[in-house]
Amino acid sequence: MDLDLSHPALSDLKASCRRRVPGFVWEYVDSATGTESVKTRNRAALDAVTFLPAILRGQITPDLTTRLLGRDCALPVGIAPVGMSGLIWPGAEQALARLAAAEGIPYTLSTVATRLPEEVGPLAGDQGWFQLYPPTDPEIRRDILRRAREAGFHTLVMTADLPGPSRRERQRRARLTIPPRLTPGMVLQMMLRPRWSLATLQNGVPRLRLMESYLETGGAADSTGHAGYLLRAAPDWDYLAAVRADWEGPLVVKGVMEPADAARMKETGIDAVWVSNHTGRQFDGAPAALTVLPAVRAAVGPDYPLIFDGGVESGLDILRALAFGADFVMLGRGFHYAMGAFGATGAAHLVHILREDLVSNMVQMGITRPGNAASRLSAPPPATA
Ligand SMILES: Cc1cc2nc3c(=O)[nH]c(=O)nc-3n(C[C@H](O)[C@H](O)[C@H](O)COP(=O)(O)O)c2cc1C
Repeated sequence: MDLDLSHPALSDLKASCRRRVPGFVWEYVDSATGTESVKTRNRAALDAVTFLPAILRGQITPDLTTRLLGRDCALPVGIAPVGMSGLIWPGAEQALARLAAAEGIPYTLSTVATRLPEEVGPLAGDQGWFQLYPPTDPEIRRDILRRAREAGFHTLVMTADLPGPSRRERQRRARLTIPPRLTPGMVLQMMLRPRWSLATLQNGVPRLRLMESYLETGGAADSTGHAGYLLRAAPDWDYLAAVRADWEGPLVVKGVMEPADAARMKETGIDAVWVSNHTGRQFDGAPAALTVLPAVRAAVGPDYPLIFDGGVESGLDILRALAFGADFVMLGRGFHYAMGAFGATGAAHLVHILREDLVSNMVQMGITRPGNAASRLSAPPPATA
């Protein structure tokens, strides 16, 4: 199959993913909380950003390479952390880590991945980032960080936007409970998706292996049930300072939406801020992540690294986020729709789509560096507060 013809856009990969994974898995990857209005707001905010097309500029040869946190990346794009990645498509963590190493883009492994840092870190080469959900026990935290570092992850992302659980109504309707229980309806859904089911059988039941290693008793149900307990630290600024003290390499805080928080992080030695509204998985009342970017940029100044995610679906969306103040853009769902559609081939195809779409739009805009997108905005971002 020529994916360039059959699946030229992420929306095509998303549709194929839905046809290939069991219904409950689709509900897990695609859902947000509440009425999912954040998804709509994120999309509308991105669509509202327009650029002036450039004419009579001669040959434009875009250069996509981007430097972030002391390292070179082939594109201003990386892979956001997604818990239980291996449930969405078996082997997803390993496949995405390998892809990141091959493509020269960062891969962020979640604390609640189905594979251990030791299994995934070496595959990511020099592109491994590790995402931390804050453990309650500082000993466990330090041990997780030690293991991540020893496995080759050089950049730590602490996710700060889970002050408590969210309701995730679609996941409830799909009977995705913690601890997980296989219902007859789920078994039927799995029978309808034999490729996923066979691959899952071969890979073993997806479980939270890292958290499992800190439990007295093992087992998939136990690990998922108790992961929440182990990771229930309600972090505050002191907790963040402790993480800063525990980690020598670059430290990023994910889930920042307020300029004052970003400015304080910069002052307190955090190396980068990741602006994100978790695309609505936590809080349906948040504004579009894109709309807060200009004010966050104003608060931290021009040179401080800002990472962004929130419903990005194309190279054009990446340019929109960069134009509003981001330095680098991550995709979470996108890479997992791609994995669900065609496994590792799908994820590689998504990188190809993003690269081609970046180049194509940059030529239309007459820019050679993605970071110059702001110069072609057809209207300045709304005034910053
Ligand atoms: C199924 C799923 C699981 C996620 N798990 C995590 C996680 O373990 N840690 C984390 O920091 N963010 C997690 N996220 C949030 C993503 O990293 C990202 O912030 C969010 O999906 C927004 O990006 P997107 O619109 O490109 O998906 C998850 C998102 C999804 C869809």
